[in-house]
Amino acid sequence: MSSDQEAFSCVVLISGNGSNLQAIIDAGFASDIRAVISNKADAYGLVRAQAANIPTAILSHKDFGSRELYDAALAKLISNYNPQLIILAGFMRILSHAFVKQFAGKIINIHPSLLPKYPGLNTHARVLSAKDSHHGVSVHFVTEALDGGPLIAQTSLNISPQDTVHTLQERVHTLEHKIYPQVLKLFKEKRIQLIDSQVFIDNKAIS
Ligand code: GRF
Repeated sequence: MSSDQEAFSCVVLISGNGSNLQAIIDAGFASDIRAVISNKADAYGLVRAQAANIPTAILSHKDFGSRELYDAALAKLISNYNPQLIILAGFMRILSHAFVKQFAGKIINIHPSLLPKYPGLNTHARVLSAKDSHHGVSVHFVTEALDGGPLIAQTSLNISPQDTVHTLQERVHTLEHKIYPQVLKLFKEKRIQLIDSQVFIDNKAIS
């Protein structure tokens, strides 16, 4: 089989609950996931993966002396599975230059804000204190810029006066659980391309 005809394959990286992983599994991608890898042994997402008969691996960052050493081991582990795509789904680590370079154009992330607004943590609280009218979720390619790589898809919601950090967290999660499987479907159907930092869907450049 040429690489064009190769069946879709991915590895999912997690650190915690794994509700996005669950949404991906529920959308029918379990057989495409070659492994779920966590940097935390107690990540509930590992239980979700095992329940779906997906191989799991734990690689604790605590066992390595530096980010570079950890990322080199992570890269080696991932390479054993030879995935077309590396899906970050609540993987709470910043990836090193070498790692991002090695897998350039093959790593995607989901982030709970309308990037480029609010990269980093605590997005819901920051949106509320800025009194924004909208919030949402972004899926993007991973580059060295924290939450700053080319955007693939976004969905937004209207913030109501009653919203709290908790309600926004729930509402954003609901959006995440829809958009991530939708984006994966596009990857599986080979409808997404990244050329010179520009994302194309169905051969159309997206802004
Ligand atoms: C999600 O909000 C995602 O946007 C962020 O981390 C969270 C992971 O949640 N990157 P879960 O582990 O998938 O439930």
